[in-house]
Amino acid sequence: MKRSIALGFLLLTAAPAFAEDTLFADMGGQAGIDRIVDASVDNYLADGRIKAIFDESNIDRLRAEFKVQFCQVAGGPCDYKGHDMTAAHKGLHLTNANFNAVVEDLQDAMDRIGLPSATQNRFLARLAPMQRQVVSR
Ligand code: HEM
Repeated sequence: MKRSIALGFLLLTAAPAFAEDTLFADMGGQAGIDRIVDASVDNYLADGRIKAIFDESNIDRLRAEFKVQFCQVAGGPCDYKGHDMTAAHKGLHLTNANFNAVVEDLQDAMDRIGLPSATQNRFLARLAPMQRQVVSR
């Protein structure tokens, strides 16, 4: 009896973890993530609030890094080997306003691709903790 209660508890508490694992598939797998990255990077480069910040960057390389990182963050079979978020953004002196602009442009890209808002929010919730590492002023 004790044992089945313990097992029931384990299944109940583990369920959300299993549910989270569907995010990569729910985002359309790697093909879906590639479309989201391409559309959001296009938005950043067209966004007068932030486009100048990308002036010195190799955009093709950046798209490729985003694709691997987003795959990993979504729980997909990828191993992001780029810079950690603090190191990658340190010299850029980014603000919360810069961060919010990136999130808005990403949301716009996911909307246009037709990703349901519940799925968008699950992904955004995983990026949110990175704000502390990315924003430095
Ligand atoms: C959660 C939010 C963010 C994530 C997950 C993210 C992710 C990344 C990744 C994976 C890289 C590549 C790192 C590498 O070079 O190995 C990168 C670089 C970069 N990010 Fe972000 N970023 C975020 C927010 C921002 C914001 C708010 C801005 C500015 C508006 C920004 C501008 C840049 C720029 C300009 C680079 C390239 C730096 C270089 O050329 O070396 N990022 N970011």
